[in-house]
Amino acid sequence: MKTDIRIFKDSEAMSIAAAEIFVQEAALAVRARGRFLVALSGGSTPSGLYRLLADEPFRSKLDWAKTFIFWGDERCVLPDDEGSNYRQAQDLLLSHVPVPEKKILRIKGEREPAEASVDYTQILKRFAAPGLDWPRFDFVLLGMGEDGHTASLFPGSQVEADSPTLAVSAEYQGRPANRVTLTPLVFNSARNILFLVAGENKASTLKEVLSDAYQPERFPAQRIRPTDGKVIWLVDEAAGSEF
Ligand code: 6PG
Repeated sequence: MKTDIRIFKDSEAMSIAAAEIFVQEAALAVRARGRFLVALSGGSTPSGLYRLLADEPFRSKLDWAKTFIFWGDERCVLPDDEGSNYRQAQDLLLSHVPVPEKKILRIKGEREPAEASVDYTQILKRFAAPGLDWPRFDFVLLGMGEDGHTASLFPGSQVEADSPTLAVSAEYQGRPANRVTLTPLVFNSARNILFLVAGENKASTLKEVLSDAYQPERFPAQRIRPTDGKVIWLVDEAAGSEF
């Protein structure tokens, strides 16, 4: 399958395109299945998207009462810590929209990583799709690090996952190291995956990740290959400069 890569002049234009896709997939999911299951990401890149969704014209185009918010990964810090992915989404988006509290299904970063991982596996199970122990997400948002990691799947980690969530520890740009992540088992059963990648520092890795050479141990973003879903890469000109 040909990779769907869309390049935008800057990260603002990229975020607007992401918000449009988000709204469109939400409407399709609610129409087809009565709810919209989303997994958010952390990192700085999705902040623009979160701000847009919190405001008009996007905010009122979403059926927040039918939206279930999950995370692809979380850092093991308190939920009000600046390094918490939950806090980022809460501050920029969730506190500004009428999403019911009980539909915000966060990874409990305040717990021991292994314990938080087991807890999230159980939460995922409550939403399991037939034949799976986890939901088929309607929409998964992912970023990519300079080193090719995505969510908290880091270079050198086990390629073939055998559980839906994992506790991991990895140093990256001074960010909280202990984390919990969903694994490719869950990501690859999603209906739609949207990668957002911005910045010149990601250009050479992005080129490798999107090349024909499959090196999933080195570039974990390549582990994301949905069995029956779509992947779209939204990239700014700086990150896409080596194509
Ligand atoms: C996290 C993320 C992580 C992130 C990348 C890119 O919790 O840190 O989910 O995978 O998406 O590190 O981060 P930036 O958007 O800040 O470059």
